[in-house]
Amino acid sequence: MNPQLIKKCLFPAAGYGTRFLPATKAMPKEMLPILTKPLIQYGVEEAIEAGMDTMAIVTGRGKRAIEDHFDISYELEHQIKGTSKEHYLNEIRSVIEQCTFSYTRQIEMKGLGHAILSGETLIGNNPFAVILADDLCDHEGKGVLAQMVAIYAKYKCSIVAIEEIDINESKKYGIVVGTPIEEGIYMVSDMVEKPEPQEAPSNLAIIGRYILTPDIFEIIRSTKAGKNGEIQITDALLTQAKKGMVLAYKFKGKRFDCGSVDGFVEATNYFYGKQ
Ligand code: UTP
Repeated sequence: MNPQLIKKCLFPAAGYGTRFLPATKAMPKEMLPILTKPLIQYGVEEAIEAGMDTMAIVTGRGKRAIEDHFDISYELEHQIKGTSKEHYLNEIRSVIEQCTFSYTRQIEMKGLGHAILSGETLIGNNPFAVILADDLCDHEGKGVLAQMVAIYAKYKCSIVAIEEIDINESKKYGIVVGTPIEEGIYMVSDMVEKPEPQEAPSNLAIIGRYILTPDIFEIIRSTKAGKNGEIQITDALLTQAKKGMVLAYKFKGKRFDCGSVDGFVEATNYFYGKQ
């Protein structure tokens, strides 16, 4: 496998995070910590582990804390240098050394598809990964994105990570239908954004990990607003699946929906127990 295949990872992080108000009034949801580490740092570490070195972050108003987090705080470095507390910064220092960060703003929050399109200027004409940092993933072996990179190396097409959900939860997800082509890998034939349980065509739900080929940008540009008046990546991916091929991959590992309070608490307990 060519390790140079995918080097860029896009983090759409412009959403309002209303489910965490008032915590997210002046602080980005992506900076909420599970134990001592912000959600977005877990995501960046997963991308690094998958061989990526360029992090492209789509932010919005009030998200400056993300930029400050992935930068050096000279005052703080000076203050704790040589003290017993210095090791607290080891992980974030290592992240900053291993990759570069670039930022762009999504001016209007018109949905995930639109947020991804806003990142085009940072991605260019390359295949790229997408991480939604509020979906926190953990796996003892290879991380979820590294698993997907290995599949991309074989099939060279867009891939969405999926998991089986309770059908009553279908309204929260993009749902896929596909034909199995290998264990855990499906060729997508249909996708529906946030269907009612009785209308859900399956219980295979898309989670916040994608590998996208760059033709997706042109497709998003011509995708009309869908569910909730937002430009949905699910709609663009269905067009891509019909034109060519999109795969859905049932990943190995655990996923926590840290965009919800329940998922956030569950993740906190899980990572606390793992220490
Ligand atoms: P969510 O709908 O889960 O995030 O979007 P939200 O809107 O921030 O949260 P709530 O529902 O108000 O609590 C999934 C991901 O897509 C990003 C979000 O930042 C999140 O990572 N997103 C969503 C954008 O970047 N821009 C958008 O216009 C919409």
